[in-house]
Amino acid sequence: MTPTPAPDTELPLDMVIFGGMGDLAMRKLLPALYMAYLHGNLPGATRILSTGRQEFDRAAYLAHVSAHSRPFITGENFNENTWNGFLNLLEYVRLDVQSAPDFGALAEASRAGAQRVFYLATAPSLFTTICDKLSAAGLVDKHARVVLEKPLGRDLASAVEINEAVGRHFAESQIYRIDHYLGKETVQNLIVLRFGNSILEPIWRAPNISSVQITVAEEVGVGSRAGFYDGTGAMRDMVQNHLLQLLCIVAMEPPTSLSPDAVRDEKLKVLRSLRRFSLADIARDTVRGQYSHGVSGGEEVQGYLEEANVPLDSRTETFVALRAHIDTWRWSKVPFYLRTGKRMARRSSRIVIEFANPPFPLFPENPVGVTNRLVIELQPEEAIKLQIMAKQPGSGVQMQQVALNLDLQSAFQQRRAEAYERLLIDVVRGRLTHFMRRDELEAAWAWADPIIEGWKTLGEKPQQYAAGSWGPAASFALLARDGFSWFE
Ligand code: BG6
Repeated sequence: MTPTPAPDTELPLDMVIFGGMGDLAMRKLLPALYMAYLHGNLPGATRILSTGRQEFDRAAYLAHVSAHSRPFITGENFNENTWNGFLNLLEYVRLDVQSAPDFGALAEASRAGAQRVFYLATAPSLFTTICDKLSAAGLVDKHARVVLEKPLGRDLASAVEINEAVGRHFAESQIYRIDHYLGKETVQNLIVLRFGNSILEPIWRAPNISSVQITVAEEVGVGSRAGFYDGTGAMRDMVQNHLLQLLCIVAMEPPTSLSPDAVRDEKLKVLRSLRRFSLADIARDTVRGQYSHGVSGGEEVQGYLEEANVPLDSRTETFVALRAHIDTWRWSKVPFYLRTGKRMARRSSRIVIEFANPPFPLFPENPVGVTNRLVIELQPEEAIKLQIMAKQPGSGVQMQQVALNLDLQSAFQQRRAEAYERLLIDVVRGRLTHFMRRDELEAAWAWADPIIEGWKTLGEKPQQYAAGSWGPAASFALLARDGFSWFE
């Protein structure tokens, strides 16, 4: 495999990664850039400048990349020659983000006339100082772009502060707020499912739809990330961003085009229509959980409180389930059940649309729960299944649920680019549609903040659930109350 030639119409690219020695850079960003290089999707004259505080010469840095990043490139994509060609693009710049002179050194390392993309993969508390210093060092011009990794702040106030600070140096059209779920093939396919077909639209509303479930379940625990995670929790880490973005795509009105603003305007309307939770709503309609010791993937695993760097009395939630409402004509009275957790029974992300039962019971001897469901499997399976009722062969009328099953993995054999690869290419090409606009991000925090605050006020501990299970019992009760159940 040799890289296909890159389009030659672009400016030379200087991709500068802050947090360049970090976990995200090693596990996701560099492998994604390698894949983009392999497939000829980086401009010919690309350089990748990784910054970090450690003293490294170039050879030591490249050895570090080979040890920590290369293992994340899957077998069939790895090619020694291509890898060496990719390493040739990499530079290491020692830089302390608090030191203005270090930014001077970065300015010297960066080429005049290049398009500079600054990827901020650091703690969000550093975003302001990085942007101020980039600007003071003369590195921000009209071609420059900045990519902001999540979490963008820890509440509305801090998000506004960061947005203000970044906005002093970059125009909104230069700012790429990343949510990697928007780069997933299956999530992008959801937009096609909804708006590339006309058969769903007439029924895609109340009262035809009786409920929507969005689950993002992870099998992994907190791993080595407790330092970050314990101060964050599942609400900030997953719900405020990934799950709300999925909800937006399910619930939005058809945009007038796929231009960034047309799509983001519609998502913003959904976020602004999300009903705010009162304290009573929080007590009734949300469930916080924390995993305890259990069995996951066939192995005994420790509980969250036993994980390294987790305080023994931590009340951080590793699981959230809640019932949300979107106060619009289309979604009036339709509950949206969201659920996410670590150390759950298995990795599974899916959206389930449940349709109303027939208005008249023509087959009363066949009591059924939900008759029709559209199940959209996002990961690890990629499938769209429509559950319908069919008659079992034989005398009398015995109904049974069967599924029309579209397995996207076998329908399309092509390679799927990883989310980060796709989104990084979007940044290089200047495509903003799958990134969050400032007002969207702030609207998401405005909805999430009162829930997080409310949990504090109520002062309840998260409910324990065994690692390897589907979460606390209260999460099942949340749906059972309305006559629904989680679709597993
Ligand atoms: C990240 C969260 O944004 O998404 C992690 O910070 C989580 O805690 C991850 O594990 C899940 O992403 P994916 O692509 O594995 O579903």
